[in-house]
Amino acid sequence: MAPAPARAIAVVLLTFVCCGCTMAADKAPIKWLRAHATFYGGADASDTMGGACGYGNLYSAGYGTRTAALSAVLFNDGAACGQCYKIACDRKLADPMWCKPGVSVTVTATNFCPPNNALPSNNGGWCNPPRPHFDMAQPAWEKIGVYKGGIIPVMYQRVPCVKKGGVRFKIEGHDYFNLVTVMNVAAAGSIKSMDVKSSDSNDWMSMSRNWGANWHSLANLTGKMLSFRLTDTDGQTVEFNNIVPGGWKFGQTFASKQQFK
Ligand SMILES: *[C@@H]1O[C@H](CO)[C@@H](O)[C@H](O)[C@H]1NC(C)=O
Repeated sequence: MAPAPARAIAVVLLTFVCCGCTMAADKAPIKWLRAHATFYGGADASDTMGGACGYGNLYSAGYGTRTAALSAVLFNDGAACGQCYKIACDRKLADPMWCKPGVSVTVTATNFCPPNNALPSNNGGWCNPPRPHFDMAQPAWEKIGVYKGGIIPVMYQRVPCVKKGGVRFKIEGHDYFNLVTVMNVAAAGSIKSMDVKSSDSNDWMSMSRNWGANWHSLANLTGKMLSFRLTDTDGQTVEFNNIVPGGWKFGQTFASKQQFK
């Protein structure tokens, strides 16, 4: 990951400092935070597919090339999967040569940028804790940085996700192991808890995060009509009643018309 040139950069010690907070009228302050960004996956982002959130093919899943792999402190064991970040080159800290000024790009977190303990965190180990770092799909990175720069200091903020259509659910696994990938979540973008209910029961059963955006339950739900209940990381709950019809098969994806606001 992160085939950034081994180019010495100034070590930013205070990585989580708010740099230039502005107060919007009757809204919470918009905080820009500092991080660095590299890129991966090739000019067509083909090698960004199938990341650690489990969204699979990012083109068909609707994420396209506006995606990023997050360092451990941001990825938070998958809790950040699906979150959206607006990222701009940090003109105060960047070499102006590598910066595209006055532009930002919004990406969805779809992957994990693992630590590389063999490399120092200021020279190649960009994703080592406690560094906030975005390893962005190359086309997204090139909106804000110049290819040859390899790595740039950035400012970022979490923003609401804008998605087309409703939340989608892909079911995999087997009897007694129902694994559901939750995709295309708007607003917060990330899911905090998930429950499932089959049509022959009145009870919601809580599901557990298995990995990334994949949640599992251990009941035998094979072929039963299913409802899901999701709570996003901002606390909004949406029920998707009978979103999965009876007779479903493993590997199928079900698109709802409902979305987080
Ligand atoms: C799980 O439930 C399905 C549908 O009722 C049934 O056909 C299947 O045999 C069950 N699996 C096991 C391992 O009991």
